[in-house]
Amino acid sequence: MVSNTIDISRSTELDIMAKMVSMGHEQVLFCNDAATGLKAIIAVHSTVLGPALGGTRMWKYSNEADALRDVLRLSRGMTYKNAISNLALGGGKAVIIGDSHSMKSEALFRRFGQFVDSLAGNYITAEDVGINPTDMEWVSKETKHVVGLPGKSGDPSPVTALGVYMGMKAAVKVQTGSDSLAGKKVSVQGVGHVGQYLVRFLTQEGAHVTVTDIHEASLNAMVKECDVKVVKPDEIYDVPMDIYAPCALGATINDETLSRLKCSIVAGAANNQLLEEQKHGKALMDKGILYAPDFAINAGGVINCFSEVSGNSLEWSKKKAEEIYDTVETILRRALQENLPSFQIANLMAEEIIKAKGTLNQ
Ligand SMILES: NC(=O)c1ccc[n+]([C@@H]2O[C@H](COP(=O)([O-])OP(=O)(O)OC[C@H]3O[C@@H](n4cnc5c(N)ncnc54)[C@H](O)[C@@H]3O)[C@@H](O)[C@H]2O)c1
Repeated sequence: MVSNTIDISRSTELDIMAKMVSMGHEQVLFCNDAATGLKAIIAVHSTVLGPALGGTRMWKYSNEADALRDVLRLSRGMTYKNAISNLALGGGKAVIIGDSHSMKSEALFRRFGQFVDSLAGNYITAEDVGINPTDMEWVSKETKHVVGLPGKSGDPSPVTALGVYMGMKAAVKVQTGSDSLAGKKVSVQGVGHVGQYLVRFLTQEGAHVTVTDIHEASLNAMVKECDVKVVKPDEIYDVPMDIYAPCALGATINDETLSRLKCSIVAGAANNQLLEEQKHGKALMDKGILYAPDFAINAGGVINCFSEVSGNSLEWSKKKAEEIYDTVETILRRALQENLPSFQIANLMAEEIIKAKGTLNQ
C-alpha cells in the first residue's frame, strides 16, 4: 500500500544527497501535489551529452525508498544507454508512485507535466511501464519536453527489434567470422512488441527459431505467420540453441538458468538481463558465452525517441539502429582482447564517450 505521507524515519535513512553524490546525479526533483494525489520523483543523472531523456514509470512502490532507488538506478542507466548509442542525450527518468490502474487522471498527469516543464528542458520524458499514450498527451498539454506521442515517432518496437537483430549478427561475426544467421538455432523468449519483429528478421534470414510466451494468442499469431517451433515458458532455457534472445523479462541470466543455458551467445531486447551484473556478467564470460550488453543492443527504442527530439525521420532511426552492429562488435572484440566481461567494457566505452565531452558528476 502506498502511504499518503512521507515516512520520515525512512527518508532520514535514505540520506538522499549521499546517494546522489555516490551515483553522480545532477538533480533530483520530488513532486507532491495533494489536490491530484501526485507523488513523483524526477532524476536527472547527467546532461553532459545533452538533455536527460528517459521514460516515466508509474508503479505501486511499497515505500518511497524503493521509488527513489528505482529512479536513481534507471536514470543512471539511461546516461550509459544514450552515450553508448552516440546520441546527444543525457540520462534521466521519472517515477510516479501509485497504482496505474486506479490512480490515473488528466489532472494528475497535467500536474506532472508542469513539474517536467519546471526543469526547462533539462529532462525530456516518454512512456515507460504503466504509462500509455493518452497519459503522455495529458503531460504534453503542460510541457513540450515529452516524446513518444501518438502520431509522432510512434511505436519504437520495430526499430528496437532491428537493432537487436543487427547486434545479434555482430555477435555471430565476432564468434565465427561470418555474420550469417542462416541455420543458427535461436531461442526467443517473449514474442510481444519487440519479439515478433525480431522473429520475422530471423526467419527471413533462415535461422531455426524456437519461441515461447505466456500469452497463447501471441504464440498462435507467430506460428501462423512464421516457421517457428514453440516450447513452454520454462523449457526455453533447455532448448539446444546457438543464441538465447531474452525479449520478455529482466534477470533471466541467473544462477539457475546459467546451469541450463546451452547457447554460445546471449543477444536480446530485455532490459536488465543479468540478475546481478558483476556476478552473472562474469559467469557468462567464464562459460565462453558472448553477451551483447542489453543497454547497447536494445537502444533502438531510445534512438526512435531521439528522432522526435532532433526532428529526424524513421529512415534515420533505422539507419542509426543498424549502427548497433558496429557498437556490439566493438564491445565484444574489446572484451575478448582485454579479458573483461562485455557489460564492463560497454560501461567503460560509455564513460569514455561522456568524458570526451565533459565530466561525469562523480
Ligand atoms: N518496446 C521497445 O521498444 C523496447 C525497447 C527497449 C527495451 N525493451 C525491453 O524489451 C522487452 C520486451 O519489450 P516489449 O515492448 O516487446 O514488451 P511486451 O510486453 O510487448 O512483450 C513481452 C512479451 O513477453 C511475454 N512474457 C512475459 N513473461 C514471460 C515469460 N515468463 N516467459 C515467456 N514470455 C513472457 C509477454 O506475454 C509478452 O508477449 C522488455 O524487457 C522491454 O523492457 C523494449
